[in-house]
Amino acid sequence: MDKFIVGGNGPLMGEVASSGAKNAALPILCAALLSDQPLHLSNVPKLWDINTTKKLLSQMGVSVTQTGEHEISLDAKPITTHIAPYELVRTMRASILVLGPLVAARGQAHVSLPGGCAIGARPVDLHLMGLKAMGAEITLEGGFVHAKASKLKGARIVFDTVTVTGTENLMMAATLADGETVLENAAREPEVVDLARCLRAMGAKIEGEGTTTIRIQGVKALHEASHTVLPDRIETGTFLVAGAATRGKVRVTNTDPGLLDAVLVKLQQAGAVVRTGTDFIEVDMQGKRPLAVNIHTMPHPGFPTDMQAQFMALNCLAEGVGVIKETIFENRFMHAHELIRLGAEIRIDGHTAITTGKDRLAAAPIMATDLRASAALVIAAMMAEGETVIDRVYHMDRGYEDIEGKFAALGGKIKRVGKQF
Ligand code: UD1
Repeated sequence: MDKFIVGGNGPLMGEVASSGAKNAALPILCAALLSDQPLHLSNVPKLWDINTTKKLLSQMGVSVTQTGEHEISLDAKPITTHIAPYELVRTMRASILVLGPLVAARGQAHVSLPGGCAIGARPVDLHLMGLKAMGAEITLEGGFVHAKASKLKGARIVFDTVTVTGTENLMMAATLADGETVLENAAREPEVVDLARCLRAMGAKIEGEGTTTIRIQGVKALHEASHTVLPDRIETGTFLVAGAATRGKVRVTNTDPGLLDAVLVKLQQAGAVVRTGTDFIEVDMQGKRPLAVNIHTMPHPGFPTDMQAQFMALNCLAEGVGVIKETIFENRFMHAHELIRLGAEIRIDGHTAITTGKDRLAAAPIMATDLRASAALVIAAMMAEGETVIDRVYHMDRGYEDIEGKFAALGGKIKRVGKQF
C-alpha cells in the first residue's frame, strides 16, 4: 500500500492546472450504455475511479478505447451482459450509475448493491423509487438490484432528498422513456448540468438542468457524439485551500470560477485575496495566517460537502474558532481524528466540528480515510513541523490526478513510497 511522506514546508506558491471532473466523467462514461453508437470524450481525468468504470463497462462488452492521455471513445453496441458485479461496485459506489442506462436502453440490469461506505450509509432507495415510478420492475435478491422494463414510461418524480447520482441515473433513464419525465427537487450540481449537455449532444431532449426541475422528453434512440468533460471544481478548490492554509499564493488554471462561488466566498472570509479570470482562480494570502471560517454543507449552490475536510484543515491552522456543520453525510468527520493526531484542536459534537486554530501542527503517522479527507491531511501535513507519513493514499488516487506531482509543482515536499517502506 502506497504512503506519502510530506514535509511541512508551506507556504505553497505557484500554478497548477485542473483536471476534468471525476464526478462528471463517471456518469458520462455510463451514458455510453444508452446508445449503440460511439461516444467520444475528452478531458477525462486519469484516476482509479475512471479505471474502475472502464473495467465495469468493458466487462459488460462495451468497447472502451483510450484514444489519448485524457481521451476515451466508447462503443456500447456489442454489450454482452447487464451485470455490475460486487467486486467492482463495492470499490466505487458510483457504479450504480449503470442502472438507469442499462434498464432504459437494454431492458434489464443486475447491479450489485453498493453497501455502506466510510462516510455513511448512502442508500440508493431514491434511484429505485424513480425507476419504479417509470414502470421498471425492481427486485432485490442476493445483494443485487434486478431491474426490468420492456419500455420505461415518463413520470413525475419528486425527490425527498437532493441526490446527485440519483438525479443523474433517472435523467439518463428518462432520455429513452415513452413521453415526458419531470424530476422535481433535482440536484443542481454542475456535474448534473455537464451530463445533461453530453446527453443533449447524443440527441436527448432535456430542459431545466441546473434548476430544481428537469424535464426530459423521451426519444427513440441516442446517437454518436463528442463531449469535453468540465473542470473538477473540487480539485480546484482543494489546491486553492492548500494555498490559503499554507499562507501562500496559488493559481489554478483550466478551471471556471463560476463553479466555485460558495468556496471562493469562504476563501475571501479566510482573508485570501481572490483573483479570477475566465479560466483561472488565484488565492493570495500575502503571507498572512488565515482566519477561521464557519461552514454549513449544503447541496449546490450551497457549500459542497466534498470541500468540508479541506476547510477543516484550514481552520486547524487559522486564527480563531471555526464551526463546521456537515448536513449531507452522517459520518464525514473521520479526518478530524487524524488531524487531532497532528496536534489540531477539534471538538466534535454530533454533526458539528469546532476547531481552535494553531499556528503550526506537528508531524505524526496518519491514515487517509476517504477521498476528500485524504487531501485535507496533505494540506495539514504541509504545515506540520517534521515529516508526516500518510498511509492508505489509494483513497487519493481514486479522485485526484497526480496529486503529488501537482503539490510538488507548488513547492510542496511530498514523496510517494511503496509497501516496503
Ligand atoms: C455525489 C458525489 C459525491 C458528493 C455527493 C454530495 C458522485 C459520483 N459523487 O454522491 O462526491 O459527496 O454527491 O454532493 O457524483 N440519499 C438517500 N437515498 C438515495 C440517495 C441519496 O437517502 O437514494 C442521501 C444520501 O445518504 C446523502 C444525500 O442523500 O445523505 C446526498 O447523497 P447523494 O447526493 O446521492 O450522493 P452521491 O450521489 O452518492
